[in-house]
Amino acid sequence: MSKNWYNELDKNSIPKHIAVIMDGNGRWARERNKLRMEGHKEGSKTLKKVTDAAIRCGIKYMTVYAFSTENWSRPEKEVSYLMNLLRQGLDKYRKDAMDSDIKISVIGDISRLDDDLKKKIANVVKATQHHRTFNLVIAINYGSRDEIVRAVKKVSQDIKEGSLMVDEIDEHVMDKHLDTKDFPDPDLLIRTSGEQRLSNYLLWQLAYAEFYFTETKWPDFDAEELYKAIYYYQTRDRRFGAI
Ligand code: IPE
Ligand code: IPE
Ligand code: MG
Repeated sequence: MSKNWYNELDKNSIPKHIAVIMDGNGRWARERNKLRMEGHKEGSKTLKKVTDAAIRCGIKYMTVYAFSTENWSRPEKEVSYLMNLLRQGLDKYRKDAMDSDIKISVIGDISRLDDDLKKKIANVVKATQHHRTFNLVIAINYGSRDEIVRAVKKVSQDIKEGSLMVDEIDEHVMDKHLDTKDFPDPDLLIRTSGEQRLSNYLLWQLAYAEFYFTETKWPDFDAEELYKAIYYYQTRDRRFGAI
């Protein structure tokens, strides 16, 4: 019988914030002789399951990589399918978020998205802004380098306007100009599908996160897999540069 990972967890040291690279939808589909799109569709269902599991074990923030700045280079058909899944996902999530007190936020440069999608995002963010039980942060047209460049531009603008001095720039100032300014740094990064790279995800924010990689492809990832990742996180010795 497989282990019940939930029961193994130390409920007093659950990570506060997990970051997830939801990868492997295309390969999941290929293994089943299905179209990549079917993998994406299945993957969007996984997100709901994993959100429920994260809430159950007491995680407070989950930041998920939905679409990267590099994903525009995929075939147009796939890009528009992913954008439609986001539209549908936001509608579905809106209902869950209202029922379960979930606050939805978006990071990334959404200015490049279609107007209706931008509007949908603005609406759901506004409707859930006072929710406190759980924070779901969705990275859309997100790239860490792009985010840092945009932050540098904002800092420069503050200097130009005289509200900030060059000598005042420190890590805290940088933090406050990033898209993630309202969230603590992730404690744990999970990437599915066997790839062991960051793919331009949260480079600044993951400075001291623990990394967990699994071969499981995102559509097959589930609650127990999440608890297994947290179990391994709890076995790590986090030092933050000290001894
Ligand atoms: C992750 O699955 C979803 C997105 C990047 C949007 P992929 O589409 O990258 O799946 P693989 O990596 O090709 O299997
Ligand atoms: C990272 O996955 C982006 C998302 C999961 C949205 P990719 O599949 O795009 O990354 P690479 O191309 O394997 O690095
Ligand atoms: Mg991939």
